[in-house]
Amino acid sequence: MEQLTPLNAPTAEDPYPYYSRLAVEQPFVFDGQLNCWIAASADTVDAVLGNAAFRVRPIDDAVPSQMRGSALGELFAHMVRMTDGPAHAPRRHEVEQLIEAANVGAMVTALPDLGTEPLDALMFTFPSRAIAALLGLAPPTVNGIETYARALARAIAPGASPETVAPASRAVEALSAVFAARFPNEQQRYGAIGLLFQAYDGTAGLIGNVLYHLAIAQPEITRRIIQDAPTLAGFVAEVVRLDPPVHNTRRFAAIEIPFDDALVRENESVLVLLAAANYDPAAAARTFTFGAGIHACIAARLAITIASVAVKALVDTGADLATIERNGFYPALNVRVPRLSYARLR
Ligand code: HEM
Repeated sequence: MEQLTPLNAPTAEDPYPYYSRLAVEQPFVFDGQLNCWIAASADTVDAVLGNAAFRVRPIDDAVPSQMRGSALGELFAHMVRMTDGPAHAPRRHEVEQLIEAANVGAMVTALPDLGTEPLDALMFTFPSRAIAALLGLAPPTVNGIETYARALARAIAPGASPETVAPASRAVEALSAVFAARFPNEQQRYGAIGLLFQAYDGTAGLIGNVLYHLAIAQPEITRRIIQDAPTLAGFVAEVVRLDPPVHNTRRFAAIEIPFDDALVRENESVLVLLAAANYDPAAAARTFTFGAGIHACIAARLAITIASVAVKALVDTGADLATIERNGFYPALNVRVPRLSYARLR
């Protein structure tokens, strides 16, 4: 069996005993192989995410070099998730308003045809179209929006190759045109495009992980969970905590920071293991999957709603969830998105 590391754990079959151990035994250590600090306990994850001297980007490197000068680089420079300092709060307020103004009921109009590839359609297509519909785009424009969201997600993922930049830049240009009339203000337009990126892998992973756990549960328990909306939402929230779609995020020290018994030097990075913090007994069942502090996810409730609507839609087609199988995960360093299919033989 491959040895677990913080970067292969998100796509390991069962990384949770490993994370539990890290949370208790190695709350904050320097990993010489990965050349970064690892925060794994609830306390250290909270402390890193709550300290403004730990930034979302390295100082003097606001935009990754491979993106500079491209349309993707422009988007990156305007994204709230990638913004440090005084510009962050107003940008965050702007995207929060986009979400608050959204009509959640519009989401169901974005459900794709579940006839042919229902599992992929629900995991990847539906969340992108749902966000586009919530942002006020009309159905003909909403269809196909997932292709652009995928290009963005591939190019902004940790470790993305330089070849992903050109397709993602074309996606930014196409999306700018799509959103131009609705959001004439440039920052708002970038905010809307950024939401498509933010939602892509996390929500796909959440829907996939929920379907997997419903598939392996006793059929009677699955039936009880899905027949009542609050019970389903509660179940989705537990999957967010115990089999999370997002496992880690990163911070960079803007200055020298004394931390616990350690000294983090300027520009050193910290890999923040949200999934390990969820498993820290001291966390008392608190969920770190949506982050913490000033950059915490603005759409935790919305993500749970999207996943619940997706599961319900699949059940309404008469699908037998018990026949769903998990065959590994999509390759990634920070997210856990299962490859699901229906079993051929039963
Ligand atoms: C299950 C799905 C999702 C998960 C697990 C998730 C998780 C996260 C996490 C961990 C962060 C913080 C990153 C950091 O501090 O480094 C974050 C930030 C963010 N998320 Fe989500 N997210 C999900 C879905 C969504 C959706 C559906 C949207 C929007 C429609 C969204 C919008 C955002 C935004 C705008 C930020 C940046 C906030 C800021 O920097 O101030 N997320 N998300």
